[in-house]
Amino acid sequence: MKKVSIIGAGNVGATSVYYIAEKNIADIVMVDVVEGLAEKKALDFLHSAALRNYNISITGSNDYSKMRDSDVVVVTAGVPRKPGMNRMDLLKTNVSIVKIVSQKIAQYCPNAVVIVVTNPLDIIAMVVLRETGFALKKVVGMAGALDSTRFRYFIAERLGVWPGDVMTMVLGGHGDEMVPLKGYTSVGGFPVNQFLDDASIEVMIKRTRDGGGEIVKYLKTGSAFYAPGASVAKMVEAIIKDERRIMAASAYLRGEYGYHNTYLGVPVLLGKNGVEKIITIELTPDEKQALDASANAVREGIAMLETFYAPG
Ligand code: APR
Repeated sequence: MKKVSIIGAGNVGATSVYYIAEKNIADIVMVDVVEGLAEKKALDFLHSAALRNYNISITGSNDYSKMRDSDVVVVTAGVPRKPGMNRMDLLKTNVSIVKIVSQKIAQYCPNAVVIVVTNPLDIIAMVVLRETGFALKKVVGMAGALDSTRFRYFIAERLGVWPGDVMTMVLGGHGDEMVPLKGYTSVGGFPVNQFLDDASIEVMIKRTRDGGGEIVKYLKTGSAFYAPGASVAKMVEAIIKDERRIMAASAYLRGEYGYHNTYLGVPVLLGKNGVEKIITIELTPDEKQALDASANAVREGIAMLETFYAPG
């Protein structure tokens, strides 16, 4: 049986476990610093085993060594941004958390593929890459899958069709600068502009961009977790089953799309080794300009990181 570890048994971590468990594809270990939290949630999941036909093991611990030899490790550990906390405070806190987590991953799971979820995503992915010392393809960020599924939902809702029949890609950094690709969006295989005019599509692009914020506004004390958990599960499944699926994810770029040494959301081929391939497609001048703005925002985040962070 393959093994997946989820670090951080909070909202996104536990929801990811739920969706992965439903697939029966791997044993699951949850690790959290809060005493008893991961144990409690694991036991609660197992209580449903008879009803949900689980034949995998689900365990929880605050001992990192329990993730030993995982095939995939998902990093959701971190703190959400609280009132009064600026971007720099959030970055410093989450960097200090993922630094420890990454060192443990390198120690116990040297062959794992790591999916980073903790925000600010593209910057935290960079820290995980440096701290684990893993190959570039082995550290990937979850963002594009989530942004794309939101965009698919908004289009499907508007047209009254099944969201699975809407195909699209949302590139760029995970944040206000995300870049939904209109030209590559289709419904049942037909270009979306056969169904919707430009102004309507723009409304849905705006809603996608504000998707995370809209949930925060409703929840008040936290951020989204069902769609993020489902997005994590999709990536985990692609890797565990070596499905070679194409989806948007944050990957380390070395010249692709004209960007160097940065994480950014691009189309990737996901398989057992993580990012098996970065897929380069042609962008319109507008899309390229939007992606440039996105890459610049990530670059600013990396510059912020470098004011206080040294690997090791
Ligand atoms: N090791 C393991 N777990 C940790 C550590 C650590 N060093 N530090 C914090 N945690 C745990 C917390 O105890 C908490 O249970 O991480 C969990 C985070 O869960 P939530 O606070 O519920 O946050 P969540 O909504 O799951 O978001 C997690 O994903 O989407 C991003 O922006 C989001 O960065 C955030 C992350």
